[in-house]
Amino acid sequence: MKILIVYDTVSEIRNTEKIAVALSEVLKERGLDVDCLYVKNADPSSAKSYDGVLAGAPTMAFRATRDIMRFLDSLAKDTFAGKFAAAFDTQVQSIISGNAAKGIEKKLQKLGFRIAAPPLVAYVERRKKEYYLKE
Ligand SMILES: Cc1cc2nc3c(=O)[nH]c(=O)nc-3n(C[C@H](O)[C@H](O)[C@H](O)COP(=O)(O)O)c2cc1C
Repeated sequence: MKILIVYDTVSEIRNTEKIAVALSEVLKERGLDVDCLYVKNADPSSAKSYDGVLAGAPTMAFRATRDIMRFLDSLAKDTFAGKFAAAFDTQVQSIISGNAAKGIEKKLQKLGFRIAAPPLVAYVERRKKEYYLKE
């Protein structure tokens, strides 16, 4: 089974990239064939060659970043019926933080994907003017 992990990451700490890489390692250990790509290096036209897609982004200004949403918007509709997908994000643990993964999941559903698992949310905390993944 071929899986595309596509993610955006913005800060120098690259929190969301770390989550994408961890997911990729786990799936590879389970025998899946995984391509883990930064959104700016991912080709929307090749997405249809995968059996499943995991898409993730940091939560910025309460929602997913523009680049990941643009990538998803550029995927051809009606190509993904029955294929699996799931969303992930990084966010601050607060009821007012917003949630990138929700918007990503909604978009994946609209594209016809079957949502394979609830969003994976990785919490970050602010230390020394930067956000880092919580333990
Ligand atoms: C300008 C800016 C806006 C942010 N807005 C939010 C937000 O609305 N909600 C939230 O939970 N976290 C917010 N954060 C924290 C980011 O989600 C966090 O830094 C994230 O882990 C960055 O991921 P990255 O390292 O992959 O770029 C914001 C961070 C910055 C720098």
